[in-house]
Order: sequence, then structure tokens, then C-alpha cells
Amino acid sequence: MIKVKNLTKYYGSRLAVDNISFNVAKGEIVGFLGPNAAGKTTTMRILTGFMMPTRGDVWVAGYDMLSHSLEARQHIGYFAEAVPLYTDMTVRSYLDFLARLRGLDKNRIKTRIGDVVGICHLEEYIDVLIGKLSKGFRQRVGVAQAIIHEPEVLILDEPTVGIDPIQVAMTRQLIKELGKEHTVLLSTHILPEVSMTCGRVIIIHEGRIAAEDSIENLASMIGGAKRIRLEVAGPSQQVAERLRQIKGVQRVSYQDSDYTVECAAGQDPRGQIMEAIVRSGWSLLSLESIEMSLEDIFLKLTTEEETNR
Ligand SMILES: Nc1ncnc2c1ncn2[C@@H]1O[C@H](COP(=O)(O)OP(=O)(O)OP(=O)(O)O)[C@@H](O)[C@H]1O
Ligand SMILES: [Mg+2]
Repeated sequence: MIKVKNLTKYYGSRLAVDNISFNVAKGEIVGFLGPNAAGKTTTMRILTGFMMPTRGDVWVAGYDMLSHSLEARQHIGYFAEAVPLYTDMTVRSYLDFLARLRGLDKNRIKTRIGDVVGICHLEEYIDVLIGKLSKGFRQRVGVAQAIIHEPEVLILDEPTVGIDPIQVAMTRQLIKELGKEHTVLLSTHILPEVSMTCGRVIIIHEGRIAAEDSIENLASMIGGAKRIRLEVAGPSQQVAERLRQIKGVQRVSYQDSDYTVECAAGQDPRGQIMEAIVRSGWSLLSLESIEMSLEDIFLKLTTEEETNR
């Protein structure tokens, strides 16, 4: 459904996307991850026909984006990073305007507005000016306009940035629902969002693809394991030695009284750790499990990639 081949984009002399290639198959929901300035939005703009690449080829829904951009765009729904909404239009008139722009006929527009307003839970706001909506609801209008023409492919650039946790959860659910009927490429900085919605991820870093895999494989590749950080008042070496004896503990590192424990996949030895420390007569000052952040994963992936070169 999406095919990117040797895509390169320069802004003047700045290289934003460096010869990347990837495919997204029909029905897949793929997470497009990367730190700021990695090239995600640039790639998405090219995929949606808003910008020309410097080099390379892009096909969406079977159309060559460079030679058949108009046709391709009818099959794409795009949620842009900065959604260009018309604030002095009501939700209904805005959706109607865009649907007409995309060539839907009158009757179909009416049903589709009803459909998308239902899907995005905008019923109460359909006749409200977009300028008067809260940010989260504007995001929903952004999603609604992206799906009004029933595109086969959805390109969503950070659809859950800056909205509250309840709405994030709702948007996620929505993306999951949409994924049943659409092919989705989703960019986000929130890793749990990806594990909840995406079957596969592509990680882009400094304009290049750093990793591309299923969530399961990526999780096991980066360890897939829990890390626990604790602070113990006691003799460091002995404490570390004792921690290493606990079942499920794979590696222990420490600095002064701070310890980091890496656990085997699927293991959570926090109870045993607490017990061991207390039984040894030391004081456990704090204990917390550390979630792996996107940054951790990046660090790991990019350093591993460099050592492989
Ligand atoms: N219109 C532009 N003119 C010049 N440089 C640009 C332009 N848009 C983006 N860039 C540069 O291209 C690089 C990639 O930017 P891009 O917006 O694609 O990153 P991103 O992965 O979407 O980042 P973010 O997570 O911050 O949204 C950055 O170095 C950025 O400064
Ligand atoms: Mg971006």
C-alpha cells in the first residue's frame, strides 16, 4: 500500500531524509518513530504529496506519487503535525467543504459526515465553530477530515500530542478501530502508544532507518526486560553480590548506594530483592522499576548499529 524507495530529501544543503526504503502492506498499522528532527514529518509530507523528494520513489495505493499525485491523494488521509483547520467554520461546514474538495457527491457527503462525526465522537460539536473547540476536539476534527473520503491509507503525524490522557486513550482506540479497515502509518513519541496500536515499527534516526521490526522482536532485541533501580544503605560490593544471587536477576551495576538491576525477560523479582536486602540487615531506601523510554531504545539501537559497522 505504501512503498518508499531510496527516498532522499534535502532542504537546501540540509539532509533531512537519507536514502530510506520501506514498505507498508495493506491492513498494517505501522509506527513511525524517531527523535525530533529525525525526518518523520518530512517523509510523511512526501508520502502525502505535499512536498517533492530530492530523489527516490514513492507509491501509495498503487499510484506513483510523483507522476500521479492527484489520484494518489484521493486514497490518502493525512493528519498533519500542525493541523490546518479553518477556525471560523463549524465542524459540519468544514467537513462538507473538504469532502466536496475531494470529489465526493452530495448524498455521500451527508452520510459520510454523519459517519465520521460518530466515529470521532463529535456529535455534540457538529455545529460549533472549530475555533471554539478545545485542542483535543480539534485533533478529532483533524482525524475526521482525514477519513471523510474513506481513504485506504492513513498517514497520522503525532495525532495524540498535547491532549489529555482520556482523549489520548480515545484517540488510540480510534486508531486501532481505523486500522481494521485502513493501512496506517503513525508517528508518535509515545512508545506505549505504539505497543498498543502498531503491529510493526520503523525507527528513523538522523534521516536513516535505524530499525524496522515487529513490536515483539524489537522488545526482545532491546532486552524486553524490566530494570529496577534501588538505593541501599550497606556495603556496595556485598549488596551487589547478594542481588546477583536472586533468581531472575541478570545483571547488577552500582554507583555508591545506587543499584541498577536488569531482570531476565518476564521476571519481576522486586519482592525477593526487598526480602534479601532486609534479611541481610541492610536498609532499603528506595526501589522503583524503570520503564524503557523511547530514548533508551534509541540509544541502544543506534549504538548497536554503530558497533556493527
Ligand atoms: N521547511 C523546512 N526547511 C528547512 N529545513 C527543514 C524544514 N522542515 C524540516 N526541516 C529540517 O529537516 C529535518 C527533519 O525534520 P522533520 O520535521 O522531518 O523531523 P521530525 O522527525 O518530524 O521531528 P519532530 O519529532 O520534531 O516532529 C530537521 O533537521 C529540520 O530542521
Ligand atoms: Mg514531525
